[in-house]
Amino acid sequence: MKKHPKKLMIPGPVEVEQDVLAEMGSPVVSHYGEEWTEIYNETVELARKVFQTNNEHIFLIPGSGSAGLDAALGSTLQGDRKLLVPINGWFGNRLKNIASTHSDEVDTIDFELGSSVDPDQVKQYLEKNPEVEVLAITHCETSTGVSNPVEEIGKICSRQEVLFIVDAVSSLGASQLKTDEWDVDICITASQKGLEAPPGLALVSVSPTAWELVEKTSDPGWYLNLKTWKKFALDWADWHPFPVTMAVNNVLALRRSLIRILDEGLNERFKRHKQLTEFLRESLRNLGFSLFVEDRFASSTVTSVEAGSKVDIDGLMEYLETERSIKIAGSLGEMEGRLFRIGHMGPGASYDALLPLLFGIEEYLRRIGADIVQGQFLKENSD
Ligand SMILES: Cc1ncc(COP(=O)(O)O)c(C=O)c1O
Repeated sequence: MKKHPKKLMIPGPVEVEQDVLAEMGSPVVSHYGEEWTEIYNETVELARKVFQTNNEHIFLIPGSGSAGLDAALGSTLQGDRKLLVPINGWFGNRLKNIASTHSDEVDTIDFELGSSVDPDQVKQYLEKNPEVEVLAITHCETSTGVSNPVEEIGKICSRQEVLFIVDAVSSLGASQLKTDEWDVDICITASQKGLEAPPGLALVSVSPTAWELVEKTSDPGWYLNLKTWKKFALDWADWHPFPVTMAVNNVLALRRSLIRILDEGLNERFKRHKQLTEFLRESLRNLGFSLFVEDRFASSTVTSVEAGSKVDIDGLMEYLETERSIKIAGSLGEMEGRLFRIGHMGPGASYDALLPLLFGIEEYLRRIGADIVQGQFLKENSD
């Protein structure tokens, strides 16, 4: 029997709108030919706008976000080519792990969990280590909900002539990220978070500067090799501009969600996500919670909350799922058992989603007899 769907308030995948979902159930079409190529190119063009780039090459690679990260790192690293990864969480560490399979020279700078990467330390490191050729960083560190200063680090990398790779898997489409203006050479995201489509596609935008390095790099295999994707985009441009059987329904769904995103307007979206994040943070504080990340570092897609000594995270998550049909997430790595995380992307980035969640959390607190420190949230909303 089909289970009643839960409201997804996890840090991805996110729920998708009905018209986007309907594309997944539409008839499968052939992945080549004039008609399909037009649809594919239109989707790439829409993605180009969301990336805020003029880069000629944006690839839609069937796979998850990690496929895009592996393609970017594998196509720019080899042997002893040096990469720096500033790390402030689980996904920064993941970048290091992927990079280490392609290069023997992976340097890291570790930052405190919950703080953002400090551009000054990155600058000093690069000045002292001019042999670093590539830097990779997460934009939103999804494990804690910290937004890293991509714009500042982009300027530093550009000055030092270091190739800049950004993992925007949990930010692009929901938080401001100007690929070209911020000097991001390779920007990677996935379909299932800020882009509000089902999981299944990695999106990779590659700058002309990045191509210079990619051309000098030995092949990291065939599928996740950016050279392969470029070759087919050029050689088979008019009928099959990618090397594999494209995930046609995922592309149709992504096209629909990108149209929605651009119809709303990028700046409007970023503003909405930010305002809702502020509302959520304020409301959680009013319930008595401490937030793990300071306001100035907070991402507008994921919020992590200190459970404190009274709240059992598993108990809270189970209550929300069974009684309220809302799914939130625990944390990863060292923060497991200490933080719970709320994703606010897709339909989750709305008062319609946040209010029932907050009422559910408050109800759970009452059930376990926890103090609600200020109780303002309840008062203000029961008038
Ligand atoms: C910042 C970040 N990087 C990478 C990933 C991995 O993406 P995927 O699971 O789509 O491979 C995630 C997924 O949560 C993420 O949030």
